[in-house]
Amino acid sequence: MRTLEAGRRHLLRFTLNGRPVEGWAEPRLLLSDFLRQELGATDGHVGCEHGVCGACTLRIDGRAVRACLMLAVQAEGCAVETVAGLGAADGGLDDLQAAFRRHHALQCGYCTPGILMSLTQLLVDEPDADGARIRDVLSGHLCRCTGYQGILRAAEEVFAARRRAGGEAKEGES
Ligand code: FES
Ligand code: FES
Repeated sequence: MRTLEAGRRHLLRFTLNGRPVEGWAEPRLLLSDFLRQELGATDGHVGCEHGVCGACTLRIDGRAVRACLMLAVQAEGCAVETVAGLGAADGGLDDLQAAFRRHHALQCGYCTPGILMSLTQLLVDEPDADGARIRDVLSGHLCRCTGYQGILRAAEEVFAARRRAGGEAKEGES
C-alpha cells in the first residue's frame, strides 16, 4: 500500500465509465469533488455532502456508493460508473431513463443522477424487488420536486418489464 502524505497531491488513476482517467488529489479530497473539480465530470451532483441526500450516488466496482462519503484516493484502480455511463447500446436512453421520461419522473433533475444509479444497482442486485423495496431504496434519496410518484411508477414499470422479459426468455429455452 502506498504512503499518502497529508497536504501533498498524489497522482490517481481509475476508469470512469470505461475510460482510463487520472488526476491529482490530496488525501483528504472527496471523490465527489475530485470528479467535478479535477476531471470536469459534472454529471454526478452534490447536495448535502454528508451522505444524506443521495445526489452523488455512483457505482464503484459494481456497488452503489455515495461519492461524498469516499475519499478520491480510495478509488485508485477502481471502475467508477456515473450516470453519464448509462444508456442503451445504440447511444439512446436505456429502459430506466426512458421510463423516467415517460412518467415525468424528474423536474429540476438535481436528484436524478443519484436515483438512476441506485435503481440501476437495485436492478442488478434484486431484479425481483417489489414496490416496497423500491420505496425503501428511494427513501435514501431526497427529491424536492416530484413527490416521488412518477419516479415510483417509472421504476416499477421497468422492474415488471424486465421480469416479464426474463420469464419469456426462460420459456423460450424450455
Ligand atoms: S451529496 Fe452525497 S449524499 Fe448528499
Ligand atoms: S427533480 Fe428536483 S430534486 Fe428531484
